[in-house]
Amino acid sequence: MGEMMDKVTVDHIRGFKGRERLPILTAYDYPMAKILDELEMPVMLVGDSLGMVVLGYPDTTEVTMADMLHHVRAVARAKPRGLIVADLPFGSYENVEAAVANSQRLREAGADAVKAEGGLEIAPQIKAILATGIPFMGHLGMLPQHIKEEGRYRVKGKIETERDLLLRDAALLDEIGAFAMVLELVKPELADSITKTVSCPTIGIGSGLSCDGQILVSHDLVGGFPWFTPRFVTPKLKVAALIKESIKEWQLEVRQTAETEGKA
Ligand code: KIV
Repeated sequence: MGEMMDKVTVDHIRGFKGRERLPILTAYDYPMAKILDELEMPVMLVGDSLGMVVLGYPDTTEVTMADMLHHVRAVARAKPRGLIVADLPFGSYENVEAAVANSQRLREAGADAVKAEGGLEIAPQIKAILATGIPFMGHLGMLPQHIKEEGRYRVKGKIETERDLLLRDAALLDEIGAFAMVLELVKPELADSITKTVSCPTIGIGSGLSCDGQILVSHDLVGGFPWFTPRFVTPKLKVAALIKESIKEWQLEVRQTAETEGKA
């Protein structure tokens, strides 16, 4: 991907549709943003999943704007060429004014674009965000910020009413001007239909292989949060286990040194 020398634009991302699959990962800090930049990742998401895999919250509903701003700043300090997309956290886009003000705060912290969960119910907020010139990424399907009402993470689009709503929302986000949309835990056949219908790239997570791209929480991919791994992820590495091994080795070295010194 030697062509990716300049800052990636929203048009660049749109251009992936039908041409090249988009792999996207989350980045919550400077080192991961540097690594993803060195790998020429065209988009990195400062997702509110950071609440679970970095901050130890039980779900994403406790993530605050202060949490998001802190992590967006850390990622932005790496000055990646890929687009930095930041999640608007739970409760930060309940009305148009809040959505615009909080999107602007994320922009000032270094985000290039924002993402929020939902379709028709947040359409006025999305239009207002776009009207300020801030690019918007959609998020449909299983919406983690609604976990308290949902009770569990489950596949969406299995029943007709859900399927119709998802098709409606996907068409709406596309029409309003989302530059891409995440489809989370959407029944693969439905994700495929949406992908074929909308003009912007669909980015799947647990939604089958026919989306235009795939997104994962980076900790899930590298085994950095072994206490929970989504069933659709096969970690490529066991980072937490490797960290434990190296710490154990060092603990032993320190203890053995103390023993040797004690004998001397
Ligand atoms: O918060 C996040 O990391 C996300 C992805 C899982 C899509 O929204």
